[in-house]
Amino acid sequence: MIKLERLLYASTATGRTDSLMNMASILAESDRNNARDGLTGALAAHEGQYLQVVEGQPEVLDGLLRRLESDPRHKDIRLIDRASITQRRFQAWTMANARITPPMAGLLERLVHNPQLDPNGAVDMLFEASQAA
Ligand SMILES: Cc1cc2nc3c(=O)[nH]c(=O)nc-3n(C[C@H](O)[C@H](O)[C@H](O)COP(=O)(O)O)c2cc1C
Repeated sequence: MIKLERLLYASTATGRTDSLMNMASILAESDRNNARDGLTGALAAHEGQYLQVVEGQPEVLDGLLRRLESDPRHKDIRLIDRASITQRRFQAWTMANARITPPMAGLLERLVHNPQLDPNGAVDMLFEASQAA
């Protein structure tokens, strides 16, 4: 059995999160690498904050975390949750562009001041917002 984990983190963007160019280049890179690495997930960006969920093999997630840590496009990476999972939720997406619905906007705005959040609720919201995208 292949081990699977789910990673959920938030970070602060150094560039604009309302720039389609910024998002498009991050998503294109993620698509290419994640297809190669067997990673799936979703990314939401709003008001200078990123929230991302990524699923995959633990050592592959460790590799991604190292690359994320040295990426100048964001800073202050806060790991919210890392847990074993039995199956993927985001198997349809190498990296979904999660829509900023009003509840998603509220969640990302609260994240700046309050990093405490229910990981399962946040992943549910990312999943719903990916469906709608
Ligand atoms: C918010 C954010 C999310 C990212 N998500 C991913 C991702 O899911 N997969 C990935 O490979 N790179 C992702 N990246 C890019 C990595 O930080 C890194 O630049 C990239 O993996 C390096 O790829 P390369 O070795 O092909 O140049 C993300 C970057 C940012 C700023």
